[in-house]
Amino acid sequence: MPEITVDTAVEITDLRFSWAPGKPILSVEKFQVPSSESVFIRGPSGSGKSTLLNLLGGVIKPDSGSIKLLGQDITGLKASQVDHFRADHTGYIFQQFNLLPYLSVIENILLPCQFSKKRSLKAQEMFQTPEMGALYLLQRMGFTESLINAKSVLELSTGQQQRVAAARALLGAPELVVADEPTSALDSDHRDQFIELILEQCRAQSSTLLFVSHDTSLEKHFDHRISLKPSQAGGYKL
Ligand SMILES: Nc1ncnc2c1ncn2[C@@H]1O[C@H](COP(=O)(O)OP(=O)(O)OP(=O)(O)O)[C@@H](O)[C@H]1O
Ligand SMILES: [Mg+2]
Repeated sequence: MPEITVDTAVEITDLRFSWAPGKPILSVEKFQVPSSESVFIRGPSGSGKSTLLNLLGGVIKPDSGSIKLLGQDITGLKASQVDHFRADHTGYIFQQFNLLPYLSVIENILLPCQFSKKRSLKAQEMFQTPEMGALYLLQRMGFTESLINAKSVLELSTGQQQRVAAARALLGAPELVVADEPTSALDSDHRDQFIELILEQCRAQSSTLLFVSHDTSLEKHFDHRISLKPSQAGGYKL
């Protein structure tokens, strides 16, 4: 299969979303992100940041409008097709990390490469094996050998789990990396270091980064900054 190369990584048009009829949560007239660039999306708690990322992940569908990722409109895809698309092209750092407690640190990071042959092959191209990629990323994140060898991610601190979640999202160079408030458990020194590392790795592997947070001190690191604002129609708009 040829690589997908498109200039616009994300394009949302005339989107509306509500959890319940008559209660608009989010509207987006036009939102475009050029490939390989980074965007900081801010908004207060409850403004719909996680909802927006769930829409981009195809986990929920908009009431109307389109969401094009890498030139593909995901709103028209079947659930199984969306799952496939997400596994191949999107790395997620979730607000609650979603690490699997019965797996080791390395096994958690390798998960997306097990779901996607594409990502596994890319990891092999970059690091010889996905395992070596996982080790590289962990070392870059300051993990010592004993931490890397922890039997369960539950043995790690919250900040350390956050870094494992980031390594999992980055391995296999997905075209899109989506991060939902990933720095909440880190102190300010670790926070800047963590963001620099994500940005640097995204640049190195040409991933487009969408990073959501309400912490405005972080926005200086990004190519673009955008905020969710209250909408006259109710809910918030981008
Ligand atoms: N599963 C759900 N069912 C119904 N309403 C929901 C659901 N998830 C979120 N909401 C509502 O949608 C709105 C946006 O929530 P969302 O979680 O997207 O906000 P957020 O900006 O990510 O907030 P935070 O900064 O606290 O993480 C809120 O009013 C919330 O109550
Ligand atoms: Mg949220």
